[in-house]
Amino acid sequence: MDHYNRYKVQTKDNQLMDYEEKTKTFDWSQVEKSFSWNETGKVNIAFEAIDKHCESNKKNKIALMYSDSIRKEAYTYQALKEHSNRMGNVFRDIGIRKGDRIFIFMPRVPELYFSFLGALKIGAIVGPLFEAFMEEAVKDRLADSEATMLITTPELLKRVPLHELPHLKHILLYGENIEVKSGFYDLNAEWQQASPQLKIEWMNLDDPMLIHYTSGSTGKPKGVLHVHRAMIQQYQTGKWVLDLKEDDIYWCTADPGWVTGTSYGIFAPWLNGVTNVIRGGRFSPEDWYKTLEKNKISVWYSAPTAFRMLMAAGEQIVKQYDLSTVRHILSVGEPLNPEVVRWGLETYGKRIHDNWWMTETGSILIANYPQMEIRAGSMGKPIPGIHAAIIDDDGTELPPYTMGNLAIRTPWPSMMRQIWKNEEKYKAYFRISGWYLSGDSAYIDDDGYFWFQGRLDDVINTSGERVGPFEVESKLVEHPAVAEAGVIGKPDPIRGQIIKAFISLRQGYFESEELKEEIQTYIKHGLAAHAVPREIEFKDKLPKTRSGKIMRRVLKSWELGLPTGDLSTMED
Ligand code: WT7
Repeated sequence: MDHYNRYKVQTKDNQLMDYEEKTKTFDWSQVEKSFSWNETGKVNIAFEAIDKHCESNKKNKIALMYSDSIRKEAYTYQALKEHSNRMGNVFRDIGIRKGDRIFIFMPRVPELYFSFLGALKIGAIVGPLFEAFMEEAVKDRLADSEATMLITTPELLKRVPLHELPHLKHILLYGENIEVKSGFYDLNAEWQQASPQLKIEWMNLDDPMLIHYTSGSTGKPKGVLHVHRAMIQQYQTGKWVLDLKEDDIYWCTADPGWVTGTSYGIFAPWLNGVTNVIRGGRFSPEDWYKTLEKNKISVWYSAPTAFRMLMAAGEQIVKQYDLSTVRHILSVGEPLNPEVVRWGLETYGKRIHDNWWMTETGSILIANYPQMEIRAGSMGKPIPGIHAAIIDDDGTELPPYTMGNLAIRTPWPSMMRQIWKNEEKYKAYFRISGWYLSGDSAYIDDDGYFWFQGRLDDVINTSGERVGPFEVESKLVEHPAVAEAGVIGKPDPIRGQIIKAFISLRQGYFESEELKEEIQTYIKHGLAAHAVPREIEFKDKLPKTRSGKIMRRVLKSWELGLPTGDLSTMED
C-alpha cells in the first residue's frame, strides 16, 4: 500500500481523508455541531443516544438485538426510548435526583440497558457492577460512592452487606416472585406500569454521568468519574475507529461493568444510530461464532484474551459458521500478540485492529484505523485531536524507539473529571504539568506507531481485567492461615498474565494443596473469580523494605529468574 492510502481516515460523510491532514486541521468543536446542545447549551447523553433518533427515520430501526440461552428479543429505538423513560419515572418517583448514585448489579439482560439509560435521563450517576463481583468488591464500591439506590437480582443481593451500607436506601429487584417490603421494589412490576413520557433532566456538558471503579497498585479501587461531554469522542471514535456506518450490525463483547462495555457497548453504537447486539451468558467459541453468524454482525469489538481462546479452539470450528458479514474486527484491553493478528488474517480473512485506551480516558486514544496499514504488535497511532507522546519523568518528549511514559496532552473530551472523593489520586495522574500519565510504558517507531511495553506500576492485567495487587493481598491476609502476602502478575500464554501470590503462613499452619485451594476459594467468594491467584507459592519470609512494605519487584524477579536489582532498602 502506498504511503498516502496508508493513513486514510473515514469521515462522517464517508469521504476518505488523509490522516496526517486530518490531524493538522481537526479540533473537537467540529464534532459538537452533530449534537443538539449547540442551540440550548444543555444536553443528556441518553437523549443523544436514543431519543434523538426517534425524531428521524430511525424510530423503527432495531437499536438492541438481545439473546441469551432463553430470551431472544429485539427493541427499536422508539421502544428503548419508552422503556428507559419508564425506568426514569420509576427512579424519580422513588426520590432519586440529579447527581445521586444508582448502582446496577445484574446480568446482561435488556432491563440492565433500560435502567442504565433511564438513570442517565434523570441526571443520576450510574455505577455499573460486574456480575461476578463478590461481597467485598460490591461493598467497597457502594460504600465509597455512597450510592442510594441499587438495582440487582435476589440472587446477587446475597452479596450485598446491607447493614454495612447506611446510604443505600432503595433496592430494586429484578426477577420473578419478588417479595416487596419496605425499601424494596419489584423492578419489572414498577417499570412496566410507569409512564413512557419523561421529562428529561437537561445537564451541563461537564455534569457527571458515570462512575467506573478500577484498580491501581495501592489502596482500594478508585471511582473514575465521567461526564456527559464524553459523548463527543465516543461518537467520533465510533466513526473513525469502529468504522460504524448506517447499516452496521455491531457487537461489543464486553460487559458494561467494565468501561469498554459502556463507552463501546452502549454509547458509541447508539450515538451513531446502529444496531447493537448484546449477547448474555458466558464465552464459548461455538456460542460466539453462532452469535456472529445468526445476527449477521459486521463490526466486532473484543479482547486479546478472547481471540487467544478462539485461536486455541482452532480453525476447524470456524469453518462450520458463515462469518462472511464480518467486515471489521477490533481488540482492546491488553497487548494483542502479533501471532493472533496473523492467525486472524488467515482464519477470518480479516485484520484484527488493536487500539489503546483506559477506564480513565473514557474512549479510544490510539488506534489502528480501518484504512491504515497494520503493524502487528503495535497499538496504532493517536486519533486526530489527541496528542500522545512518550515522555521522560520531567515531561520531555522522547525520540523514536526510546522507552518512556505513555502520556497524553490534556484535556480531551472524554477524559475523567474526578477520582471519586480522592483529589490526591486524581492529581497523581497529572503530576507533570500539561500531561496525563497513563502508567503504561511504550515507545514510538519512525512512522509514529505506538508500541506497548508494560505497566510502570504493579497493576495486573489478567484476561484484560485490571486487578490491583493490594486488593488481593488485603483479602489474602484476612484468611486465618495467611501471615503475609505479596501478589504479582505472571506471564501466561492465554490470559496475558495470571495472578501469583507469595504467602507466608501463620504459626501452626502448614502448606498443602488443600490449603492452597481453600485460599483460592476464599478469594473467589470474597472478591471475584478473576481476582483468584491461580498460582500460590508458600515462603517462610517475604522480601520487605525496612519500613515493612512487601517488595513486589523482588518477587517478580524471583519469578522470572531476573536479577533483583537494588536491594539496599530491603530488610535483612
Ligand atoms: C490498561 C487499561 C479501555 C480498555 C479496557 C481496559 C492495558 C489497554 C491495550 C492495548 C496493550 C493495553 C494498558 C492500560 N491496555 N489496551 N491495546 N495494548 N495494553 O481498560 O481496565 O482501564 O485498563 O489496559 O495497560 O493502561 P482498563
